[in-house]
Amino acid sequence: KVVEITLPIIEKKMQIDDEGTEIWALTFNGSVPGPMIVVHEGDYVEVTLQNLPENGMEHNVDFHSATGALGGGALTKVLPGEQVVLRWKATKPGVFVYHCAPGDVMIPYHVTHGMSGAVMVLPRDGLKDAAGNPVAYDRAYFIGEQDYYIPRDEDGNFKKYDLAGEDLAESLDVMRTLTPTHVVFNGRAGSMTGDNALRAKVGERVLFIHAQANRDSRPHLIGGHGDFVWEGGSFNDRPDTNMETWFIRGGSAGVMAYTFEQPGIYAYVNHNLIEAVMLGATAHVVVDGEWDDDLMMQVTKPGPIVS
Ligand code: CU
Repeated sequence: KVVEITLPIIEKKMQIDDEGTEIWALTFNGSVPGPMIVVHEGDYVEVTLQNLPENGMEHNVDFHSATGALGGGALTKVLPGEQVVLRWKATKPGVFVYHCAPGDVMIPYHVTHGMSGAVMVLPRDGLKDAAGNPVAYDRAYFIGEQDYYIPRDEDGNFKKYDLAGEDLAESLDVMRTLTPTHVVFNGRAGSMTGDNALRAKVGERVLFIHAQANRDSRPHLIGGHGDFVWEGGSFNDRPDTNMETWFIRGGSAGVMAYTFEQPGIYAYVNHNLIEAVMLGATAHVVVDGEWDDDLMMQVTKPGPIVS
């Protein structure tokens, strides 16, 4: 099958936390991350990459799931107002990052301004556990983790800019420290907490597809486990089981499958807890269903120490 996808590139100002911090984001399809493209092994992906005329920069796309020509990066450079069509064959089942890579410092600059997404290439016969039994799932969440490097003014406040690209020199200075000012899921702090929390029910199996185009991460589901984890993202590999925390290498995507057994609010975090709590890398899953006292119960309420 040929799966046709139009991917507009949109340079746009976005708010990245509740304090009003802004970035002129460079996006695929107007969001950070860009959309996850889902196909089956053996399909052809035909991407129309459009650099919208309002944009100011050259862009392209490197698909880690594709073979040859810098993942398509060498064949997809487009200036504002141009489009290009690239077709590649999805030969490797798994999850993969795609990102902009226009050359030199513009590669990390574009990626740290939001320009990445993911591809999931499903095996024809579905996901399997280590014994070869099918692993079905009820829901799939795409968690695109993004590190931002926002310049500050003399007073330590995050700077704002009038145009995309105006922050280039100052952003590169912050990027050289390798210390992000924000590490967030799906574009901004709080994108999946509170009213925006993900939802599931007890008994449902959920896929957590986690992508990070630039920097290492270590996902953990607080109160749950990684029942099945394809850590490196290849569905040809046997999944690890019952992991507490797994690793997503910068420049890769991985998949975890979990069946919820208790109701409540779960936090899905990057378990560098500074990044989770202080820089933004936290999502919540609100799970409905019946509590199981056998798995956990509060035997007595908090009270004075009994000696
Ligand atoms: Cu770009």
